[in-house]
Parts: sequence; structure tokens; C-alpha cells
Amino acid sequence: MQVYLNGKIVPAKEAVVSVFDHGFLYGDGIYETMRVYDGVVFMLDEHIKRLYRSASLIGLSIPLDTDSLKISIFETLIANNLKNAYVRLTVSRGHGTIGLDPELCAEPTTVIIVQGLKEYPRSFYENGISIIIPKTRRNLKEAINPRIKSLNFLNNILAKIEAKKRDAYEAVMLNSCGKLTEGTISNLFFYRDGLLCTPSADCGILDGITRGIVVEIAMRDGLKVKEGEFTREDLYSAEEVFITNTTLEVMPVSKVDDRVYIPGNVTNLLHKAYRQEVNAYVSNVKAKGPSIWDQNE
Ligand code: PDD
Repeated sequence: MQVYLNGKIVPAKEAVVSVFDHGFLYGDGIYETMRVYDGVVFMLDEHIKRLYRSASLIGLSIPLDTDSLKISIFETLIANNLKNAYVRLTVSRGHGTIGLDPELCAEPTTVIIVQGLKEYPRSFYENGISIIIPKTRRNLKEAINPRIKSLNFLNNILAKIEAKKRDAYEAVMLNSCGKLTEGTISNLFFYRDGLLCTPSADCGILDGITRGIVVEIAMRDGLKVKEGEFTREDLYSAEEVFITNTTLEVMPVSKVDDRVYIPGNVTNLLHKAYRQEVNAYVSNVKAKGPSIWDQNE
């Protein structure tokens, strides 16, 4: 495996970051996860835009401009000969001495890791996955705003530990007011009384790119969508539940705590429509002309 590290593509073994990197010492940094379908990075511009937003929210200046970042992603994919992949782009505050002051770090560390995509088991999509509502609450948006896709994932990890203890795949956290927010790596949707519901950005969530697409598709297909504040009881009384993210796409939920759901028509329809959206995006990018892959084949 080849990894991009600060301007160079090197074998994974040589892709080593200092123990004085503030990403390691303090979780001081940001990241994005992208998915590549047939050589095309899905929603690349949106992910890059969100990366810069996260950077700006923590006062971090990304050393590369957007075009150079995009080229570096493609170069890393080409170096690994991967056309269906997972991309993890990380920018940390960089190497400094011990101390919280960001000015101790001269230069951010930029890393791009790409991996062949391990598809989720088909049974997950056919039967749904189990989720719980954990005791761990989502970070206060006034403390560490979940809109920042930061390296500080301990809040989510604590919830994930609870999920694992209860044999569940995902944990959907409440906020400090007891309202539903999001999963540890995903956004939440549920269908109830003819309404497709999802917690609003104000509840303290990452405004997922997949979530945005699903909301758009649902409205286009004539579904009524409500982005708002919801309680655990709203979720318990739902007819269908699903979660979304870049790698999972639209994943049905069969259980929330002790409540059982059967993956239904709305979830299936939205997953199919999401796939069509991906295919249309990929065809569109390809139709625009030769890609960086063509020069490397
Ligand atoms: N996670 N909420 C959280 C806390 C997330 O970490 C993610 C994504 C999402 C969904 O965002 P999107 O639809 O843009 O992928 C929501 C990625 C997949 C990760 O951590 O690797």
C-alpha cells in the first residue's frame, strides 16, 4: 500500500508521523472520508469544501489548495491502482512541542490513505442492523461542534463501546436536551405517519453529504421531509428506520434498543434512488472528458 504524506507518496511502512504531532497528542486536526466508484470520487467538491470548513472552524490553514488536494487524492489512488475505494484524507495541526498552542506547530501534516472498499455484508442491507441509544450524549455544539469533522472522536468512540457491549452496530446519541442527534459515524432517518424525519443541523450533528442527497431525493420523489427536533419515543414509534453515510450509503435498521422494525418500502426506494444518483454522477464525470486515469493506463 502507498500512502500520501506531506507531498510524497511513500510505502505504508514509511508513512510515519511524529509522536509530537498535535493530531496524536491532542486530536488536533480534521478529516474527510470519501468513496470512489469506478475511479470517480463521489461528491469530491462537497467533501473538499467540508474539509476546508472544518479547517476554518479550528483555525487551521490547509497547506494545499483545493486543486492540489484533488490531484494528490488521484495520485494516491493511481499509486495503489484502486478504482473502487475508501479515501481517508487527514490534516493535523502538525509537529510541535508539547503544549496546546497551535502556533507551536510550524506546518500541518497531510495524509491520504486509500483502501480497497470492503463492501458491507448483503445481509446488513437485506435484514437491517441493530442500533442503540447510548448513555453517552453527543458533544455540546457550543463545546466541540459536531459540524467540525475533527480527529477528536472520543465522544463517538465512547458511544460505540456502549453499542458493542449491547451487540449493536451503531449508537445514535441524544444531545444535552434529550433530542436525537446522529450515530457515531452516520446520520439518522426514520419514517413515521407519512413523514421522513431526520434531526436538523441545529440539534448538533455533522451535516452529512449522504444525508443531504437523501433529503433531496426524497423531496424530488414527493416524500414529505421534516428536519427538526425528535425524541427517542418518536424513533421508537417509527415504521422504518435507516442510517446514512458515505460508505454505508442507505442502511436499514432492524432494531433500536428493544424495538424491532422491518426494512420497508421507503428505505428500499431511497437506497435504490441513491444508487441511481451515484451512477448518474459517475457517468457525468466520465462524460466530461479524459480523466487522470486515462494518462496512467
Ligand atoms: N463518517 N455523522 C458523523 C459523526 C460522521 O462521522 C459521518 C461520516 C456522518 C455522515 O457523513 P457523510 O454522509 O458525509 O459521510 C455523520 C465517515 C464515513 C467516517 O467517519 O469515516
